[in-house]
Amino acid sequence: MQTTPLLKTKELSLQFGGLKALQNVSMEVPAGEFRGLIGPNGAGKTTLINCISGAIQASSGSIVFDDVEIGTMAPHLISGLGMSRSFQHVQIFGDRSVRDNILIGMHRQIKQNLIGQLLGLPGSRAAEHEAGLRAEALLKRFDLHDVANRPAKLLPYGVLKRLDLARSLAAKPKLLLLDEPTSGMSEEEALSAISMLKDIARQEGMTLLVIEHNMRIMMDLADQISVLHLGQIIAEGTPEEVTQNPVAIEAYLGEEEVDA
Ligand SMILES: Nc1ncnc2c1ncn2[C@@H]1O[C@H](COP(=O)(O)OP(=O)(O)O)[C@@H](O)[C@H]1O
Ligand SMILES: [Mg+2]
Repeated sequence: MQTTPLLKTKELSLQFGGLKALQNVSMEVPAGEFRGLIGPNGAGKTTLINCISGAIQASSGSIVFDDVEIGTMAPHLISGLGMSRSFQHVQIFGDRSVRDNILIGMHRQIKQNLIGQLLGLPGSRAAEHEAGLRAEALLKRFDLHDVANRPAKLLPYGVLKRLDLARSLAAKPKLLLLDEPTSGMSEEEALSAISMLKDIARQEGMTLLVIEHNMRIMMDLADQISVLHLGQIIAEGTPEEVTQNPVAIEAYLGEEEVDA
């Protein structure tokens, strides 16, 4: 068993001008855990994910992923270590087919494959074949098979979000960061997408860090939840613990009806 956490942030802080978006955020996520991240709008949730994925650099503190300090590393290098992410607003290639978007999500393997081809390595054919099989499996699992050859831009928003989720899973990341993966989906679409996500992530031993506003989904998905408020972690625990924590209720959960 791995004793060091897969992801560890230590006293991460980030300021935008005078605004303290993150203040000494320390969190540890063990391998295989599904961690939820909640908090009111503007709490710093997206900013935290942006720091972890390397999209922006924190002003101070450290981020260790799989025993590597990644706090100052470029996003493509971090993703090469086995981290994927989705965005609050989907980022897909609209002119490319649904299938291509998933294949692009495997760029890590495909890049290796291209290098393999250049070097004439026999393994590259096998890698290409494997990437193709995984793409087909994901298309099926996420119910995208019928639209696989269509340009992604023709899909309705809920289906695009599903594609974005499939794309982010494509490279078999160790850690997957999801920023509101179900926003814009109907409740039914959301529940089904999250159930597919759970199946694949558990099966493959993935670790998740998920921002999600729907508490019903969060209660069902998360092993542990961290609550962020004004850039600080104010509560942490199991979904049951967090929903009973007065500090978390005051800062966030009291705002909306928690029908869990
Ligand atoms: N690039 C930026 N420049 C300036 N302020 C920003 C930037 N990104 C986020 N912020 C501010 O940082 C705070 C945290 O934002 P964000 O991480 O997007 O919150 P959340 O995802 O929890 O809703 C907000 O007050 C937001 O306005
Ligand atoms: Mg956000």
